[in-house]
Amino acid sequence: MSRIVFLNGSFLPIEEAKVPFMDRGFLFGDGIYEGIAVLGGHLVDNEAHLERLERSLREVRIPNPYTREEWTQLEEELARRNGLTEGFIYFQVTRGVAERDFMFPENTTPTVAMFTQAKSIVNSPAAETGIAVITVPDLRWKRRDIKSINLLAQVLAKQAAKEAGAQEAWMVEDGFVTEGGSSSGFIVTKEGRIVARPLSNAILPGITRQSLLALSKEAGIELEERPFTVEEACDAAEAFLTSASNFVLPIVSIDGRPIGNGKPGPVTKKLRAIYIRMATAQRMAAE
Ligand SMILES: Cc1ncc(COP(=O)(O)O)c(C=O)c1O
Repeated sequence: MSRIVFLNGSFLPIEEAKVPFMDRGFLFGDGIYEGIAVLGGHLVDNEAHLERLERSLREVRIPNPYTREEWTQLEEELARRNGLTEGFIYFQVTRGVAERDFMFPENTTPTVAMFTQAKSIVNSPAAETGIAVITVPDLRWKRRDIKSINLLAQVLAKQAAKEAGAQEAWMVEDGFVTEGGSSSGFIVTKEGRIVARPLSNAILPGITRQSLLALSKEAGIELEERPFTVEEACDAAEAFLTSASNFVLPIVSIDGRPIGNGKPGPVTKKLRAIYIRMATAQRMAAE
């Protein structure tokens, strides 16, 4: 079966999907994206992702080409056409195609592109072993709350992680961890409390983060919303990350220093199980 993508109103084999040379996404990184998990053929936390998309588009003044219902239909149809039962749906909206000039072009239609990636999120070897992270300076701009397609700093951060034998980079500003290259970062104190950096323009408001913090509250796990340093993270009982493409993943070392006993910790394992239960329940409710 050929891989089918969605581009500007049509479902096409990927080989036929072409974006014009003068697309502002290509020339300026002038666009917004989203990434949503699919589990059992159903979208996880879709409403919250679409709400974040609406906000990001509004902040950079790109018109939203679809309603929430239309976006959902497109996502579901693309998953169906690709036989996607577990994995990821990526989509982006750019300001469109126009002669290169910095200012917004007039009467330009946004470019919409969407594709799927199959991936085992629940049965993940990384969840069993935990992952290593390195720390790097946070080189990004000052509106990280917007899910912009400008990802050069994250590309460099994650490549540095790979070259150091790690799987994620934690970005650091003024001594405090902001977040991972493509994930939200957390630690667990020796008293069993979760520490998460509060939302601001310094980090992306992770949708998995939002769901997980609500679930952990229900489970009676205490939360401290405050920034934490690399030193505090290295001394923590546990560390973990969240993202739509991984749910919850244990972090077992930072810059080569083991966290806790160097194995996935009990609070992280519990949170991962709680999150998977919630995502599975969403799927069953949709069936
Ligand atoms: C910088 C950054 N932070 C956090 C996240 C996690 O967000 P979410 O849970 O919505 O996938 C991502 C995901 O791509 C990201 O790129």
